[in-house]
Amino acid sequence: MKNLSKAVEILRAGGLVAFPTETVYGLGADAKNPAAVAKIFSVKGRPADHPVIVHLAAFSELSEWVVDDISFDAKKLAAAFWPGPLTLIFKKNPGISALLTGGQDTIGIRIPHHPVALELLREFGGGLAAPSANRFGHISPTTAAAVYEELGDSVDLILEGGQCEVGLESTILDVSSDVISILRPGMIGAKQIEKILGKNISLKQKKSPRVSGSLESHYAPRTKTILLSADEIKNYLSREKKLVVIAISEMKLSDVEYFQMSSSPEKYAHDLYFILREFDKKNFDEIIIEKVPDFVEWDAVRDRLQRAAG
Ligand code: TXA
Ligand code: MG
Repeated sequence: MKNLSKAVEILRAGGLVAFPTETVYGLGADAKNPAAVAKIFSVKGRPADHPVIVHLAAFSELSEWVVDDISFDAKKLAAAFWPGPLTLIFKKNPGISALLTGGQDTIGIRIPHHPVALELLREFGGGLAAPSANRFGHISPTTAAAVYEELGDSVDLILEGGQCEVGLESTILDVSSDVISILRPGMIGAKQIEKILGKNISLKQKKSPRVSGSLESHYAPRTKTILLSADEIKNYLSREKKLVVIAISEMKLSDVEYFQMSSSPEKYAHDLYFILREFDKKNFDEIIIEKVPDFVEWDAVRDRLQRAAG
């Protein structure tokens, strides 16, 4: 692939390359080049205390980045889910730049499951720091076109990889201590993780800017977004406002735009950011989204919807 060698050249020279992963598109830079990593923060408008995830091609590279006391649990999780939509937080090696870790003593690592991302990582031959390729606080991009809408020409190259299969950011799991906890829910859910570990984990998300996705308003459209139950939606609709309703339930609504989402959490997750982005461009006064079911399968979607609605 012609673009791939160009991408590697740009990364080696300290430039920025946006690339597809199975979750969302990432804004990549050479993780060992502080000036390149600093560019990520300025292009995204992201505060310096928000750590970034380092992406690797293979488990064997892990020892370059993390302290050499990886727990058996962490190894089991990596074996089960990598490459895949899971980020593991480890104690960082002393030499690792504070820029990557937001000044913390831990580092987030992920091996993505996307042919373009893996080929890029292998060709580059090192770690790529890559947050989602959007402006800080906005919706993550799930297509190359969406990356361009977000970041325009401030990225040196955008690699095309189609629409992301998962569509929501990775599950983030803290394995840096004995108490394993989910810092950000994703499509790899607590049940799957507990099945691999053979024990319960903590679902309580830690408060603090450790995970920027844990801010109350994040992953948000620019249009005011409101979450309501199906009944609340029927009472809410007003003729004075230009509204769009995004719902799983079939609804007969007049005077408003209505979009029906899948009742499968996987398909819903796959479509959500793409749909939100499209409606965000259409100058609605408000985006109304029907609340999703209370089941654990919906944890990641529910989390992102709550943040989208601030
Ligand atoms: O699916 C994903 O994870 C995508 C793709 C591109 O891999 N990346 C992504 O990156 O969502 P970002 O930066 O938008 O979100 C990563 C989250 C941030 O909220 C960050 O604070 C958290 O990971 N994070 C990174 N390192 C951490 C650490 N050492 N401790 C706690 N949280 C960390
Ligand atoms: Mg992000």
